[in-house]
Amino acid sequence: MTDRYAVIGNPISHSKSPLIHTAFAQQTAQDIAYTALEGPLDGFAGAVYAFRDAGGRGMNVTAPFKLQAFDLATDRLERAELAGATNALKFEGDRILADNFDGVGLVNDLQRNLGVALAGKRVLLLGAGGAVRGALLPFLAEQPAELVIANRTAEKATALAAAFSRRGRITGCGLGDLAGERFDVVLNATSASLKAELPAVPASVFTGAVLAYELVYGKGLTPFLRLAQNAGVPLLADGVGMLVEQAAEAFVWWRGVRPDTGPVIARMTVPLV
Ligand code: ATR
Repeated sequence: MTDRYAVIGNPISHSKSPLIHTAFAQQTAQDIAYTALEGPLDGFAGAVYAFRDAGGRGMNVTAPFKLQAFDLATDRLERAELAGATNALKFEGDRILADNFDGVGLVNDLQRNLGVALAGKRVLLLGAGGAVRGALLPFLAEQPAELVIANRTAEKATALAAAFSRRGRITGCGLGDLAGERFDVVLNATSASLKAELPAVPASVFTGAVLAYELVYGKGLTPFLRLAQNAGVPLLADGVGMLVEQAAEAFVWWRGVRPDTGPVIARMTVPLV
């Protein structure tokens, strides 16, 4: 029998998850149907229960429901617990298991696809919202020499760094505090690029950097990537690989089979011009 999965969000028409999971299912000969569901803004829980009761096996969760999904879960895996949000649910009888694969998807993209190991590196993460929070545990697990979170609102970055300080070398600061600092890897996890804005980061952070990474995908050469390019960073990437890698982690969790992400990333990549 065909097992049902879905991504739920609002809006949802832009979601690439059905395309990615359908490609994974074809590749691995898994009998699944994966659809996109627009969750009502005032009825998220009801939509999840209805999907499960109709035979659904699992769901991806996207904006604005990642926190509500966390609250709904009966069992939260550590990554979801520390991220304070979930992007994947699995239904097992009465239990709703929650995990968060965004951070591990990003780390896999950096290390496996782009060939940039984080161990021993000075890493700068711009932003202090949900995307950064989800990335911190998987990043620190790779043991960078230093992980710096810099945010427009400095207090959010320092609070986040303090909350994770037990888990590795991490500091938080404001964007203005980065003057004169240099990093090996610089990632933009702010939502500035969605508005074609540039986080007010000094170009000097890119001096000697091997990679600049934009978590937003499909926006081409964003102001952040353009700044990095002008500063001479040799490798630029957007978040298409992160998107496909987090989907692969969910697929393994649900189906016990690992898909090959390479062809799917290649199909979805939009040139950085
Ligand atoms: P997400 O869950 O996608 O991370 P979020 O929680 O709304 O989204 O967080 C958005 C992040 O982008 C925040 O760190 C925000 O900075 P503030 O905390 O100061 O609001 C950051 N951000 C948004 N627009 C920005 C801009 N134009 N320049 C710099 N940072 C920006």
